[in-house]
Amino acid sequence: MSDHGKFATSAIHAGQEPEKWKSWAVCPPISLATTFKQPDPGVTKSGFEYSRGGNPTRNSLEEAFAAICHGKKALVWASGLAGTNAVLQLLRPNDHVLAIDDLYGGTNRLLRRLGEPMGIQADFVPTANVDKFADSMKPNTKLVWIESPTNPLLQITDIRAVVKQVKAKNKDCIIVVDNTFMSAYFQRPLDLGADIEFASVTKYYNGHSDVLMGVTITNNADLAERLQFIQFAAGAVPGPFDCYLVNRGLKTLHVRMAAHAKNAIRVARYLEAHPKVRQVIYPGLESHPGHEIAKRQCHGFSGMVTFRIRGDIEASRTFLKSIKVFTLAESLGAVESLAELPCIMTHASVPAEQRAQLGITDDLIRLSVGIEDIEDLITDLQQALNAAVPGYEATPAVGEFITEDAAKTSAVSKQPATTAAPGNMTPRTPKVNSVSSGVATPTRSAAGYNAPTTSRLAESPARYEGSRPPSRHPPGGQSTITFG
Ligand SMILES: Cc1ncc(COP(=O)(O)O)c(C=O)c1O
Repeated sequence: MSDHGKFATSAIHAGQEPEKWKSWAVCPPISLATTFKQPDPGVTKSGFEYSRGGNPTRNSLEEAFAAICHGKKALVWASGLAGTNAVLQLLRPNDHVLAIDDLYGGTNRLLRRLGEPMGIQADFVPTANVDKFADSMKPNTKLVWIESPTNPLLQITDIRAVVKQVKAKNKDCIIVVDNTFMSAYFQRPLDLGADIEFASVTKYYNGHSDVLMGVTITNNADLAERLQFIQFAAGAVPGPFDCYLVNRGLKTLHVRMAAHAKNAIRVARYLEAHPKVRQVIYPGLESHPGHEIAKRQCHGFSGMVTFRIRGDIEASRTFLKSIKVFTLAESLGAVESLAELPCIMTHASVPAEQRAQLGITDDLIRLSVGIEDIEDLITDLQQALNAAVPGYEATPAVGEFITEDAAKTSAVSKQPATTAAPGNMTPRTPKVNSVSSGVATPTRSAAGYNAPTTSRLAESPARYEGSRPPSRHPPGGQSTITFG
């Protein structure tokens, strides 16, 4: 781990020492060479031999990741799923994976569709009751995979509790936490006891919707060595230009995450006060069942907000077709705001019964709140909700939710950074503008959080079947593809 001080300082300087380049360049050069001159056969002067095994631009990025994630070794991969697949390569036939039930659709698909033919069996179990989750371990459970918050329902897992229970049963079981929705700025899984932090770098870490990449970070020397061998032997490495872009993205991560969080709490509070919205799921809201755990284990809350619109699939579609500042698109975590319908987009590859059980229903809309002007974002949501859900004249006044005060959220555990994350403030109750008689603002209880509702789509998946490029459909199986 490089010692470069606090979060922002590490993100800007770790792995970037100008003195390591002949030119003393203040940012890493993009080293495109695939091979490096040797003074003698088998002897390297710079430590580099062939770019699959190591590349100067990639190494700089990996050093930066190790520093900000509090790990000894970071390795980057050609995409998030390439990184997940590399972790799967640590297993052997007849090994068992215990995964959280509500997780990214592509991870679910990878474990079921690629893991099973390799003889690896996976079970998907909720983590709300950690004892029950740990009791689902088998004698051959070698890997535990959790996501917190989950995609798309933003459920929070008590990571320390899972680590304690799992390690008590089998100290050698590898625990991976998918940290895609938080980034190391808001949550450091290695500090909470996980063996590996995994993340889709495509999202917040890069933050500009222009690179696909994954990362694994660990403090365990044996795992680091095995993963590095997999990186070299299987070759799912990102190119130097992508590494350069992500390196640049990391330097503003702390500023971006703070801005995402500040906008997201205001969006969440606005939606929570809105009669055309049935439920808002955001771990930064006091109404979220995982709020207290999140405050203990995170340093803040990210830009992901999920909500249930008061209506059916047509309301969801109209809302998503009406947004103008938000873009209807998969993926998340970049500077621009995105919105999507998980049941037919990102989570279409999750089996229909599992989707229905989890509550990934027709009315569930996922927002990735970007860092645009908050007034424009809330005004956009307001006009799209008006277009999608008729009636309910009394809607909250946008002005109430764009103030500095509206960005306040309840306290989080501690700040990792020199730049303060947007926490440590007091909760506030949203006000609703001119509620006319007979129109009640719906109240949302924690109990309703994960309640599944009837889903037409859950019964008939694959809406977009055929509209995807055929080459991306895996042979002989379910033909819906999960992208972002
Ligand atoms: C939580 C999570 N993990 C993993 C991935 C996969 O990453 P990638 O798309 O970079 O392969 C995604 C992608 O959306 C994700 O949201």
